[in-house]
Amino acid sequence: MSTTYGTFPGSRPRRLRTTPAMRRMVAETRLHPADLILPAFVREGVSTPVPISAMPGVVQHTRDTLRKAAVEALEAGVSGIMLFGVPEDAKKDAAGTAGTDPDGILQVAIRDVKAEVGDDLVIMSDLCLDEYTDHGHCGVLDAAGRVDNDATLERYAEMAQVQADAGVHIVGPSGMMDGQVGVIRDALDQTGHEDVSILAYTAKYASAFYGPFREAVGSSLQGDRKTYQQDPANTRESMRELALDLAEGADMVMVKPALPYLDILAKVAEAVDVPVAAYQISGEYAMVEAAAANGWIDRDRAIMETLTGIKRAGANMILTYWATEVARQL
Ligand code: PBG
Repeated sequence: MSTTYGTFPGSRPRRLRTTPAMRRMVAETRLHPADLILPAFVREGVSTPVPISAMPGVVQHTRDTLRKAAVEALEAGVSGIMLFGVPEDAKKDAAGTAGTDPDGILQVAIRDVKAEVGDDLVIMSDLCLDEYTDHGHCGVLDAAGRVDNDATLERYAEMAQVQADAGVHIVGPSGMMDGQVGVIRDALDQTGHEDVSILAYTAKYASAFYGPFREAVGSSLQGDRKTYQQDPANTRESMRELALDLAEGADMVMVKPALPYLDILAKVAEAVDVPVAAYQISGEYAMVEAAAANGWIDRDRAIMETLTGIKRAGANMILTYWATEVARQL
């Protein structure tokens, strides 16, 4: 070959891809077990774990198997666990009372996990009402059936206190109510929980990919969440939510879902000086598992590729239902 095209043949990027060792050396993004956080569901009143059909491999834990899952995650090197409570159906009501009961399933689970792993694993809790309301919304409703922002904030303040009393390290308000981070910060500080952190669900989109989560927490949502979660079409709105959450005292911020919102994740990561998390949600998990079960994609490669992409986009922490499995492989 004698002709030069641009800088070729002098420039041959393929040289750095020739061997696995070479590719490993020049890799710009490396996943580490400590990047990973395991979301886990615990169901009240069951003596064996209940499989979640839309999330093969994920279960609603019993109190006992949750403790085991926490230990397994810790041993694999995962850095945290995000707990979701699933109360008995009979305990759901319009106000989500079970969410603020000191003996509600989430509070019990926080105490269980804390007794098992102490401070070695970071214990986080979902701070939201949808797992506990009979209508399935993330807040309480007004007389017209709309989610009442400010009345919901009062419930969130109570939730923050009972979760912190139970020993949680980080609360994760996921309801997208205006002012939630500030109200929760105040509630924590006024009850002696200055050291409990807030992981703000900053950019949380109204996503079809939450579908399997409804089964996971046994929620039958009436209507949709579009008056409080963000429109997938918007970017600027996320930057506004980000500024508000930081001003209200967020210690960490999160983007959710992950894969369809990597542009948002990259922008948020660029803009802040606090840790940034991304949540690879139930539908993202289900998509990969379903395609793999059909033999359409290579499961393990697809999992690693999605997680690498999320980290490359700027996430310091990734919530993923594959956390323990992946941490073991790393
Ligand atoms: C709200 C909450 C949801 C998820 C986490 N917290 C559901 C929703 O907003 O509709 C979704 C997580 C997932 O889909 O994996 N409590």
